[in-house]
Amino acid sequence: MAICGSPRIEGNTEYLLKTVLDEVEKEDIEVELIRLAGKEIQPCKACGHCTKGQGCSQRDDDFQEIFNTMIEADGIILGTPVYFGSATAQLMALLQRAGYVNRRSGNKCFSRKIGAPVVVARRSGHNFTLAQLMYFFTISDMVVPGSSYWNIAIGKDKRDVAEDKEGIETMRNLGKNIAWLLKK
Ligand SMILES: Cc1cc2nc3c(=O)[nH]c(=O)nc-3n(C[C@H](O)[C@H](O)[C@H](O)COP(=O)(O)O)c2cc1C
Repeated sequence: MAICGSPRIEGNTEYLLKTVLDEVEKEDIEVELIRLAGKEIQPCKACGHCTKGQGCSQRDDDFQEIFNTMIEADGIILGTPVYFGSATAQLMALLQRAGYVNRRSGNKCFSRKIGAPVVVARRSGHNFTLAQLMYFFTISDMVVPGSSYWNIAIGKDKRDVAEDKEGIETMRNLGKNIAWLLKK
């Protein structure tokens, strides 16, 4: 599965994620794209409910449905545009809640699933943002495949990334590596 952290539908992040997923799908692996655009993910309220191993207490937003899909998936690709030097608030709210619920229930929800970050920006902030997403994967007992470059691309307006040849090639190669790893 891929989670698009952009609030912009059919924007650059979504374009890159679809490029990755197309390569995975070519290997007859089922894929799913979830957009956070239009969804409501409240921030963690630090209520402590999940520390009792009973999951997240907040049931009046879209968190639980996405979390359930993450648990079912064999691989999770996280995509975000750079917003003021970091990942979007929507994606971070999801990761902070999913990460905490996971850790407070034995840290096995995402164990040995494949994780891959994808980041786009107009100009700068890619590497820091890529690291933000990596923190989620590597504390969650996940396995991260590489590509021919860091999984980043350049673009401002919708579909600008289609012109970033190296970025697109990096996404295609990432998709091939994810498919290869999934089959191992
Ligand atoms: C609130 C906001 C903050 C942004 N901050 C940055 C930034 O720090 N660095 C940068 O290079 N681009 C920044 N951008 C540009 C986006 O990262 C860029 O337009 C990206 O392609 C948007 O991806 P999307 O089409 O998937 O939404 C920002 C855009 C917005 C709306």
